Order: sequence, then structure tokens, then C-alpha cells
Amino acid sequence: MSEEEQPSRVLVTGGSGFLGTHIVRKLLEDPAISIAVVSRTPKKQFLVGSDKVSYHSVDIASADEVQALFDKVHPQVVIHTASPKNTDTAAALERTNVEGTKILLQSAKMCADTRGFVYTSSDSAIVPTQEPLTEELAELYTDTHFPNAYARSKALADALVQKANSDELRTAVIRVPVLYGEHDTSFIGQLISSVRKGEHKMQIGQNKKVFEFAYAPKAAEAHVLVARALFNEMTAQGVAGEAFFISDGRPELFFDFARRCYAAAGKPVSPEEVSAIPLAAMQAVASTGEWAYTIFTLGNKKPTLRRDNIDHLDRGCCWSVEKAKQRLGYIPVIDQDTAIQSSMKWALDNL
Ligand SMILES: NC(=O)c1ccc[n+]([C@@H]2O[C@H](COP(=O)([O-])OP(=O)(O)OC[C@H]3O[C@@H](n4cnc5c(N)ncnc54)[C@H](OP(=O)(O)O)[C@@H]3O)[C@@H](O)[C@H]2O)c1
Repeated sequence: MSEEEQPSRVLVTGGSGFLGTHIVRKLLEDPAISIAVVSRTPKKQFLVGSDKVSYHSVDIASADEVQALFDKVHPQVVIHTASPKNTDTAAALERTNVEGTKILLQSAKMCADTRGFVYTSSDSAIVPTQEPLTEELAELYTDTHFPNAYARSKALADALVQKANSDELRTAVIRVPVLYGEHDTSFIGQLISSVRKGEHKMQIGQNKKVFEFAYAPKAAEAHVLVARALFNEMTAQGVAGEAFFISDGRPELFFDFARRCYAAAGKPVSPEEVSAIPLAAMQAVASTGEWAYTIFTLGNKKPTLRRDNIDHLDRGCCWSVEKAKQRLGYIPVIDQDTAIQSSMKWALDNL
């Protein structure tokens, strides 16, 4: 195999989700690549019309369904982004993120065509710092030390994928922080909802922790860079068996970033307009709400305001992206203001 040889069959789990859609779009720039999009109920709305994309309704936690999928698609590289939402139940997170990842790794290992496996991990999987953290010094949460079920499941899957690296199946992990971009119904969706409810002048806590943010098309590009590197044993050195931090490389206080998004949506907030609600008060409100929902709906429904999401605001995240720049040739977004404007415009037009 020459150094230039590229994969032509790529399987993307969660390929019709927010990040997955951007990954599929990036892959489609290469006309030689065909893509199998996998999720339980794939949505085609952003990708209609491409004969290079096939859609497969598969639950990755079902070993039989996954094996049948591999027998049909024979993927050369797997990009595994599928995950339940961070607010889903511990059982659902364990089932998809831990068991589902094991099942995918097993089928990938057994498939003679599959050379590379890229996993999307999360800032939630890592013990946070407020100083730029390198991958070498990063501490993954474990089965016994974790702040919530989502962090545990992402950390366990992150470790599983790194450990599965071998000559037959080269694996790597990409850790992403808060993602924003076009097609984002989560983070950007919440910001637009705050604007529409007139809540954009509110801030939870003192806004003292920095966070990393990543423009989704750039995070997608990083996945494709890793997929290409892993496919070829000549370019896999320094990438296989490794984890990479990906972000815009510009840590910022959480509500400062949010207010740049509000301004891009035509709702600037000046410092004197900000009303800060104490973090502890919001934590108490969120906990009470969750208890009430558990009791009155017998655990069948969850409130929108979640304690884990409030706690997350007190953790922060600060990374070095040097390893990704040096080993993958990753270039963070150059004009973040334009990326924010484009994301907010998409949200105003579509949500
Ligand atoms: N968005 C962020 O800010 C952020 C931050 C850090 C890390 N991440 C990570 O990035 C990845 C992508 O996130 P995203 O925001 O793009 O999420 P998303 O839009 O919710 O997409 C996730 C996709 O996973 C699929 N999925 C869930 N369970 C599945 C199962 N059992 N079998 C097959 N497919 C399943 C879902 O499709 P179906 O419902 O059709 O199955 C969904 O389309 C995730 O791994 C997430 O942990 C995201």
C-alpha cells in the first residue's frame, strides 16, 4: 500500500447527528469515498441527494445488528461518534457507550477490511484543569472515580479504544469540548432558546472558569485527518493508539463565549446588564426539580434543567492542541467570530 492510498469505504456511527453530519460532509469532499451512516433512526435531512451515502438503521449495542452491518458494508475505517445525550440514563449510557463501543471494536477487529477506528471522546471524560493540559498529563475518569454517568461512559470507551490498538486494527481517540456550529440543536439551540425567552442577560455563578470550544466543521476535519492517517500504516505512526485534544485553541470564560453568541444573534449584553445567579442556588433548584420529576413521573420524565449540566459549569476545561497540530496537521478555526456568526444565523433561520 502506498502512502497516498486512502480509504474508500467509511462507516460513521451517529452519522446523522450534529457532529456526524459535519464528518459526513467533510468525507464527501473526496469523490472516491462512500459513506455508511449508522444510527437507530438515521435522519437524511442534511444529506439528501448524495449517492455516496447509504443509511443503516442499526443499534450499536446489538452485536447481531452490528455484525450484519459489517458483513454488508466491509468498512475500511470506522468513525464512531454515536452516543446518547449526556443527560440520558446511566443504563442507556453504559449500554451504548461502553457495550456498544466494545461490540463495534470486536466486529472491526474481525473484519479483514477494517484498518482504522476513530472514537469521539469528550472533555467530560477528563479530570478538568484550568491550565493548558497535554494528552500525556491528562487523567481519564475511571469506573470508580467519575462525576456522572456520562463522564464515566465516555472515559471507559476512550480507554477501551486506545487499548484496542493493534497491528490489525489501528485505533485513536479524538476528545472534543463544547461543540458549536451549523446544525447544532444542543448548545447553540440552548443559547437561541435563552434569547427567545429573554434569559440571555442571566449568568449562573461567577463566570470564573475557562472552557474550550470547537467549531464542529473543524472537529469533523480532525476526525477525517485521523481516519486517513490510521488507514495507512506508513502514516499511522504517532497517531495509532493515541488520544488527541481538539478545540479552537482559544480557552474562554463560559459566559463570555455565550455573550459573543448572543451578540452575533443581535442581542448584545453589556457587563452592567448581567445578573448573576449563585451557582449553589441553581444546583439546589436543579436537584429539587429532578427529585420532583422522579417522584411524580416515577422516573419516566426528566426536567430540562439538570444538575449535571449546572455542575459542568463549575468544572471548566483548558487544553493544549499542539499534539494535534504537529501530528495530524490540524489547524483550528482561524476566524472564530465568523464561525460564531454563521452558527447563530443557522440557528435563527432553522430553530
Ligand atoms: N455536542 C457536543 O458539544 C459534544 C461535546 C463533547 C463530546 N461530544 C461527543 O461527540 C459525539 C457526537 O455528539 P453530537 O452532539 O453530534 O450528538 P448527537 O447529535 O446527539 O448525535 C449522536 C447520534 O448517536 C446516535 N445514537 C445514539 N445511540 C445510538 C445507538 N445505540 N446506536 C446507534 N446510534 C446511536 C443518535 O442517533 P439515533 O437516535 O438515530 O440512534 C444520534 O444521531 C458524541 O460521542 C458525544 O459524546 C459532543
